[in-house]
Amino acid sequence: MKDKINHLLAEVEAFSAENTEQLEAFRIKFLSKKGIIPSLFADFKSVPQEDRRETGRLINTLKQAVQQKIIFLKDKLDEQSGMQGSTLDLSLPAETPLGTRHPLSIVRNEIIDIFSRIGFSVSEGPEIEDDFHNFTALNFPEEHPARDMQDTFFIEKDPDLALRTHTSSVQVRVMEKSQPPIRTISPGRVFRNEAISARAHCIFHQVEGLYVDENVSFTDLKQTLFYFARELFGKHTKIRFRPSFFPFTEPSAEMDVSCNICGGKGCNICKYTGWVEILGCGMVDPNVLEACHIDNEKYTGFAFGMGIERITMLKYQVNDLRLFFENDLRFLKQFQAAR
Ligand code: DAH
Repeated sequence: MKDKINHLLAEVEAFSAENTEQLEAFRIKFLSKKGIIPSLFADFKSVPQEDRRETGRLINTLKQAVQQKIIFLKDKLDEQSGMQGSTLDLSLPAETPLGTRHPLSIVRNEIIDIFSRIGFSVSEGPEIEDDFHNFTALNFPEEHPARDMQDTFFIEKDPDLALRTHTSSVQVRVMEKSQPPIRTISPGRVFRNEAISARAHCIFHQVEGLYVDENVSFTDLKQTLFYFARELFGKHTKIRFRPSFFPFTEPSAEMDVSCNICGGKGCNICKYTGWVEILGCGMVDPNVLEACHIDNEKYTGFAFGMGIERITMLKYQVNDLRLFFENDLRFLKQFQAAR
């Protein structure tokens, strides 16, 4: 019996299958109910006592060899059938698709470019901000509704910290560590506890601007923003200012540009008014200068803040803000940038 098993072991070792049918026949021959292995176990009963141990071990070795062979050949056949008929050419160099810039980055870079041409630097600040930089130094009264839980994401462990609700906080940081003349813009991410819709998101992007020097006037503000609007939307763009209120500027205004879609004639984008609002601005409140240790007798300044999403929507006629955050390639591929 031992000889017989050794022969069978050699047979298993040498076996190879060209197709799944041959492999299946091999399996049936050895492992099916009436196959070789069960019949060897049946014969085992008549093996004399002194040979039992070794014979038993041999039968088990044979069974394992058969099982391993089947697994090995099955993998091999699977692999071969996967390759057959496939048009894969593994020797081809890999395709390396070039990414495109995100539309919000394109517009942010364009805004930075426009302001850097007239001497503005770029500054940044932290996204987790303390109450002083986000609110107090910006002249928000204690009970101002913007401090309310509904608008602000507070950091649970420290009630003094929150996710910044606007990039105006960077103004404060810049003024704290430098003296006029200051001419800077601060692009960045901001956070507000708002329901997500086609027009609003809890995360969005702003660019803050700040100009502080001797004799800075509202005329400088107007001229700077007029230049900006024409560079961004085209040289026929008109601007207008409407009085508004922000705690950190006095006087404050909101700026509209003539609708870039209909050229001011009226369309559904501008709600048939010919104008679209793009930013808030004003003369820096003397209280803010004082909180940042800048002499408010000697210096004056202007500031402005705009939402990058809103401007991008106008520029590219995107009607749902959520598209900017969904990373759908069909949307993103439509935007190309020089840099
Ligand atoms: N921080 C304001 C906001 O988030 C935008 C803003 C308005 C910034 C007027 C300014 C400004 O600097 O002068 O809505």
